[in-house]
Amino acid sequence: MENVLFSCEGIGLSFGNRPVLKDVSLHVAPGEILGLVGPNGAGKTSLFEVFTGRYTPRSGRVCMKGTDISSLSIHERARLGLARTYQSPIVPSSMSVGDVFRAAREAYRPFLSRFDAEWGARHAHLHVPWDRPAGSLDTFDRRKLMLACQFMRAPDVLLLDEPASGLINSEIDTLDIIIRHQADEFGIGVILIEHRLELLTAIADRVVVLDLGEVIASGRPDEVFSNPRVKAAYFEDAGHG
Ligand SMILES: Nc1ncnc2c1ncn2[C@@H]1O[C@H](COP(=O)(O)OP(=O)(O)OP(=O)(O)O)[C@@H](O)[C@H]1O
Ligand SMILES: [Mg+2]
Repeated sequence: MENVLFSCEGIGLSFGNRPVLKDVSLHVAPGEILGLVGPNGAGKTSLFEVFTGRYTPRSGRVCMKGTDISSLSIHERARLGLARTYQSPIVPSSMSVGDVFRAAREAYRPFLSRFDAEWGARHAHLHVPWDRPAGSLDTFDRRKLMLACQFMRAPDVLLLDEPASGLINSEIDTLDIIIRHQADEFGIGVILIEHRLELLTAIADRVVVLDLGEVIASGRPDEVFSNPRVKAAYFEDAGHG
């Protein structure tokens, strides 16, 4: 098997008696960008919550760098090099950009330096004055700020929850360059959620399609997109995204 950096096997998750994830397995290699795609409510964000340790699955395990991390806390997983961004680009509106960086730097031990934050900002293509209120940034700059706060930690695995949401096409092209650079330059394994299949052809090396909590297809984007089961899942959902 190829070099595996991060994986999950047989993940099952229920809320009450409603199953949300059923026997989900996937893996990502160093430097690889894995697209995780699926209609609204497929369970994509819930799977990230299982990866980070916020949700406890009823079955299965999560492994990173050859270690089973299933019983580690959110903080222990983060310290091991697991980073994520959130679907909503919510930033603390009353804080300045510099304050957001400071808070993010002090969230990890040993504390990161201002140089680390500047490094993260540069790699996220974030070019805004640091005294600006974070809440005054447009969607793309908010997303860049969220990315910069993760990049500066030099993670090994980066989980991105719909990072292209709310962006226009030219911004998505820049976002792809930013993410691809992290994977190519630093060997970060990236799992990127997107519910629009077509956006993944440009960036993903491989995609996994989730529908109603189950993996229904995986492979190269062009192969997966022509898969009849994938088309059916999407066309049934068309207009609800
Ligand atoms: N904490 C929770 N309690 C109860 N149900 C939940 C919880 N979190 C998620 N769900 C349910 O699990 C299912 C999957 O939700 P999830 O947010 O993981 O989907 P998603 O694929 O990320 O969707 P979207 O594309 O809309 O972001 C949904 O039916 C959702 O209502
Ligand atoms: Mg989601």
